[in-house]
Amino acid sequence: MKISNLHRLVQMAATASVAMGLAVSAHAQEEPKLIINGEQEMITHAIPPAYIDGLSESISGWVFRTKETQALELDDFDNPGMIFVDQAQELWDKEMGPENKSCASCHGDVSSMKGVRTVMPKFNEKAGELWTLEDYINDSLTTHMGMEPWGYTSTEMTAMAALIGNQSRGMPMNVAIDGPAAPYWAKGKEMYYTRTGVLELSCASCHEDNYGNYIRADHLSQGQINGMPSYRMKNAKLNGIHARFKGCVKDTKAETYKPGGPEFHALELYVASRGNGLSVESPSVRN
Ligand code: HEC
Ligand code: HEC
Repeated sequence: MKISNLHRLVQMAATASVAMGLAVSAHAQEEPKLIINGEQEMITHAIPPAYIDGLSESISGWVFRTKETQALELDDFDNPGMIFVDQAQELWDKEMGPENKSCASCHGDVSSMKGVRTVMPKFNEKAGELWTLEDYINDSLTTHMGMEPWGYTSTEMTAMAALIGNQSRGMPMNVAIDGPAAPYWAKGKEMYYTRTGVLELSCASCHEDNYGNYIRADHLSQGQINGMPSYRMKNAKLNGIHARFKGCVKDTKAETYKPGGPEFHALELYVASRGNGLSVESPSVRN
């Protein structure tokens, strides 16, 4: 990040309360609707659960993108993320590993995964841990197929997460934060509001206090993850949740955490809960 940008960031944090006024104006305009393939309408605005105190409305990141970027998500033929979904479909049906099994051997058609994405991450009783969709995929690879796990942010993993997520497209996110998930949620919430790095910014500094404002050339969203994985114009590939978190933490000039590690698991649960009620968009298109 260039020095001039650092200045602007710091200034932005300092004038956050003034800037809040700008965020409101976005709502006054007529907003476009996210209707995919001309038939499937996504929920892009939702009332957040009562336990989320910092937001009066949850809004999909799609709403904050330019018309050109938005248009790419309106049709599966235009959505570059669908290429990866098609690749993952081939992988789903492919016999792999020492036991020559495919995902389909046990799960049948991938449509059996409908709804799975809406409740991820969730507490896994057997493991006694909070598991993300990626963890479930790796568990099937290792315990059910005798294979090595895929890298947490690898191309196969992110594509498979998009294929499985795609089965729930349109369904509202609905993660559980109670029972054994509660301590993870509390840890994630603390991370979300903790200012870190040279710039002393928290996730909330940008995605709660300043959504609707511009930072560099970017129109700041609420940093929601209902669209994940998302195809980004910036790196021309699918990006998973932890990869995106990593980039944002790095931007604050803080030490970042490892994708797949315990910190990002907790953060993912908390961020997912802020978007409970928003439609799964996997794969979304962002800049
Ligand atoms: C030999 C059978 C078998 C194969 C092959 C298999 N799985 Fe599974 N999978 C299971 C079982 C059984 C579960 C239920 C959880 C458990 O008991 O481990 C499961 C659970 C899952 C879940 C979590 C679903 C949920 O409702 O929470 C996902 C996601 C998943 N598998 C993905 C995959 C993918 C992707 C592949 C291929 C790379 C695959 N599985 C291959 C047996 C299999
Ligand atoms: C310095 C400001 C800043 C901070 C701090 C920040 N982000 Fe971001 N984040 C951005 C920008 C800019 C983008 C790209 C535009 C957008 O979607 O807001 C982004 C995008 C995202 C996205 C993608 C949203 C989508 O619709 O696909 C997620 C998720 C996200 N951030 C999460 C986080 C989390 C979690 C934290 C805290 C660890 C965080 N961000 C901290 C600036 C920030």
